[in-house]
Amino acid sequence: MSTESTKTEVGSYFISNYPPFSQWKTDQLDEVIRVFNAPPVPDTPLGLYLHIPFCRKRCKFCYFKVFTDQNAQEIEKYVSALCREIELVSKLPVMGDRPFRFVYFGGGTPSFLSSRQLTSLVDRLRANINWDKAEEVTFECEPGTLQENKIKTLKELGVTRLSLGIENFTDSVLEENGRAHLSREVYKAWDWIKAADFPNVNIDLISGMVGETWDNWKFNISEAIKLSPESITIYQMELPFNTVYSKDILGEKIETPVADWETKRAWLDYAYDEFLGAGYKISSAYTVVKDNNKVNFSYRDNLWHGSDLLATGIASFGHVSGVHYQNKAEMKEYQADLMEHGKLPLGRAMKPTKHQLLVREMVLLLKRGFLEVQYFKKKFGVNITEHWKNQFQQHVDDGMLTVSPERIELTRKGFLHADALLPPFFEAEHQGIRYT
Ligand SMILES: C[S@@+](CC[C@H](N)C(=O)[O-])C[C@H]1O[C@@H](n2cnc3c(N)ncnc32)[C@H](O)[C@@H]1O
Ligand code: SF4
Repeated sequence: MSTESTKTEVGSYFISNYPPFSQWKTDQLDEVIRVFNAPPVPDTPLGLYLHIPFCRKRCKFCYFKVFTDQNAQEIEKYVSALCREIELVSKLPVMGDRPFRFVYFGGGTPSFLSSRQLTSLVDRLRANINWDKAEEVTFECEPGTLQENKIKTLKELGVTRLSLGIENFTDSVLEENGRAHLSREVYKAWDWIKAADFPNVNIDLISGMVGETWDNWKFNISEAIKLSPESITIYQMELPFNTVYSKDILGEKIETPVADWETKRAWLDYAYDEFLGAGYKISSAYTVVKDNNKVNFSYRDNLWHGSDLLATGIASFGHVSGVHYQNKAEMKEYQADLMEHGKLPLGRAMKPTKHQLLVREMVLLLKRGFLEVQYFKKKFGVNITEHWKNQFQQHVDDGMLTVSPERIELTRKGFLHADALLPPFFEAEHQGIRYT
């Protein structure tokens, strides 16, 4: 998210939830335990997130909880703990008789697991749960971890949406940023992915990798269009506190090597134009899709509308019956809770007020590009255009939004600044505090 300054400073972040993670505390864990042990809120969709925290290499820009030095035995230990967690979760009263509407294998790099490890994981999960009724099963992949047989395995395991972290098509940029893969691994994997015929394939790109130039960015976009995936996600490079780059900048007091916000936005603007020209449509501030009817983004849309998400795996974030929670983030503690103490590895939680849930849903849905006033009136009893009159007016004056009595819409400029538009809607006590 940008601040007033145009430099990409350390401490920038994406807004993926509200209230800020820094406000979640261990002393609120009773709230999670209470809702886990009660029936679900009627008509609430249910999703499952599984975190696989392993990667071949740590990218210098990455802020996720990842391990790069684990051997097969340690991975098996983790996978066993994850299976045990799913077993415990599957017995919770809050499951009700709800099928999973969406499942998300995220990381880290889920495709770091071998075909054999994956099949064994899924076999063990199936002893307690299934996702036969899920409308979307997403699996995140790093190109260099893929082989033809692994892709076939993913298809057999029921993956419907494969998401590939390409980030950039130029080897020198990939190397500079510490990516484990090179471009030839993308093209090799792409043929296998096409042959497997997943209903939906997404690719991730980042605007503003270190070493990025205009020429290189144009090349990225034309290569992405040639691959012609169902959806393309373009992140603008952020520098949260815990990345390698951020530590270098803070420790060595060097200038940020990441392009400034104006440049990253100009690149994103160019990308939108090219993708629209190639028949894609803007589906959120980060995503373009080929066919809105075919790609339904179940995970994103359900989550942004306040669905339940059971989070499993180390440091995972979940949300159940109106309560946020995060699992323990230390490997030893995560495993000990499950394997020695037979309990869920809950780390911290927060029970937002109804108004905070309204803020959360409003800011997340604004990233999609539009808000329907009636929807919020019906769900929260609040007319959002009146409630946040000044904030919306300021954004209109800045050319970010249009507001009508029924609908608020982001302009192109608004799409490019989406994350920066959101903090003014936060409650006063959450303005200007640390987000993570
Ligand atoms: C969990 S990774 C995807 C799967 C796999 N680990 C990989 O990188 O190929 C999720 C995505 O987050 C994005 N990402 C990570 N760190 C970022 C940062 N500092 N700024 C912007 N995007 C970032 C990358 O586009 C990455 O593909
Ligand atoms: S961006 Fe992906 S591959 Fe790179 S360290 Fe992060 S999770 Fe791992």
